[in-house]
Amino acid sequence: MCINGVNMKNKIKNAKSLEELQVLYAETFGKNGTMTAKLKNMATLSNEERATINAENSELRTLFKDKQTELEMAALNAKLATEYIDVTLDKEPKNRGTLHPLTQSLKELAAIMESFGFTLWTGPEIEDDWHNFTALNTPEYHPARDMQDTFFLENGNVMRTQTSAIQIRAMEQHGAPIKIFAIGSTYRKELDATHSAMFGQMEGLYIDKNVTMSDLIGTLRALLSKFFGKEIELRIRPSYFPFTEPSVEFDMKWGDKWLEICGAGMVHPNVLKNCNINPDEYQGFAFGFGWDRMAMLKYDLNDIRAFYDGDVRWLKNSGF
Ligand code: DAH
Repeated sequence: MCINGVNMKNKIKNAKSLEELQVLYAETFGKNGTMTAKLKNMATLSNEERATINAENSELRTLFKDKQTELEMAALNAKLATEYIDVTLDKEPKNRGTLHPLTQSLKELAAIMESFGFTLWTGPEIEDDWHNFTALNTPEYHPARDMQDTFFLENGNVMRTQTSAIQIRAMEQHGAPIKIFAIGSTYRKELDATHSAMFGQMEGLYIDKNVTMSDLIGTLRALLSKFFGKEIELRIRPSYFPFTEPSVEFDMKWGDKWLEICGAGMVHPNVLKNCNINPDEYQGFAFGFGWDRMAMLKYDLNDIRAFYDGDVRWLKNSGF
């Protein structure tokens, strides 16, 4: 009996697999197992013999359990060694959505303006006459109203022709000093390869006690240089806008050409007065440009309408 027990212990210790161990377990504790038989006989045995069998019983159970754990661990380790996933491997490229080039440009411009200390301001795209024209020193009889082909609505409101309307809203609400920018859609009855009936404008406004024309020039040069990622050369021409005095236009050197890019000037005293700001105390600059045209230049695109068509094939081919 004892020889048998020793033999089984060795077999358990040397078992090579869980299956082998299972067979040994059945031989020991199964219905016709050796230990099962011994346990059945217990009633006929002396106390001493019972104690020996009990000890052997629990020793075998421990051995089985330990061996089972050992074999399971070995199986797991073998699996881990062969069935791992290399997360650094390249996989099939998936089609990912990306931001529209206009959205990207908008975010870049906004981040730059915010880094200069300007705060984003917004306004409605359906605008009233006061904010779009009259408060901007462009009363009804003013010939400058014809500068922009306006979409009029039946109730006398207009589709915002310029983000300059947002200047008025900002000054009315906030007063002076103020340093804001606005980015938004504007609408005019124009449509060809370089004009879209809806286009994007960006407006800057900085009113304080000591703001000068050189602040305007410096701000614009820094903004464009940051946006295009290279030093941008600007040229300034005298111009006319009802809401600025003096008024200027900026041209930007692009390749060997000069492109008209931005209207600007020192905010007209009448505009400040219309917003309850004292022009003897405060002055400042304003500028406005088509930021979607800037995006066209940056991404080297030649038809502005493609921006708004939402044609995914075009968006993909343009590298976005
Ligand atoms: N609103 C003008 C336009 O749409 C652009 C502009 C010119 C904006 C001068 C300004 C400015 O703020 O001061 O053509």
